[in-house]
Amino acid sequence: MHIPDIIIAIDGYSSTGKSTFAKKIAAELSFLYLDSGALYRGVTLYAIENGLISQSGEIDRPALDRALPELDIHFEYKEGGSRTYLGERCIEKEIRSLPVSGKVSPISAVPEVRSYVDRKLREFGKKKGVVMDGRDIGTTVFPEAELKIFMTADPVIRAQRRLDELNGKGEEATLEEVLRNLEERDFIDSHREVSPLTKADDAVVLDNSHMSMDDQMEWFKDIIRKRFEKA
Ligand code: DC
Repeated sequence: MHIPDIIIAIDGYSSTGKSTFAKKIAAELSFLYLDSGALYRGVTLYAIENGLISQSGEIDRPALDRALPELDIHFEYKEGGSRTYLGERCIEKEIRSLPVSGKVSPISAVPEVRSYVDRKLREFGKKKGVVMDGRDIGTTVFPEAELKIFMTADPVIRAQRRLDELNGKGEEATLEEVLRNLEERDFIDSHREVSPLTKADDAVVLDNSHMSMDDQMEWFKDIIRKRFEKA
């Protein structure tokens, strides 16, 4: 499939399969994939490891503000996939763990953290031909994105998917725990003051509760054909 170098923004609730879908699209179009959640997760891992967020979720805001300008979180692209790095250290595995998932929403609600991540994303996005996934890409980071997709799915189906993913990585959790974490994150993400999770007016909705990845790619290709391919 060949289309002009555009920005594709994929937003939506946690565990709707945004990143899997975004990676597939990027591979299909030979676009660059950018995972904005990985940047928020990287900041969260740094905050946990440096005692900037307590067990109960209290954040040492002044210390976090001081640390942000020096924080080097970036992506490296190897063997067709992207890996998240904190300085020289690959943090791809740690940022997907339950402790990080449990603290990422309060960290990503801090305005200074959002501007840090937005700045990085806009820098990466200067090169067009990108697929970016997150919560506010189509509303705040790239409101001018040529294609915006808003993903949603039934919460129990999402929790089961996340549980399968964690189990696949050898992490123990119950469906109730994962569902609670998802619902908490959905709530914080949709109710925070700065750039809450919300569908952009011009986004197309994809509810993939009962869709396979093949179904979703067919849905996507259909949109691309209608909007961007020359007859
Ligand atoms: O997509 P994810 O589950 O890896 O994202 C982790 C968290 O980061 C999510 O709970 C909310 C936050 N996030 C955000 O606030 N804005 C984005 N653009 C991407 C993620």
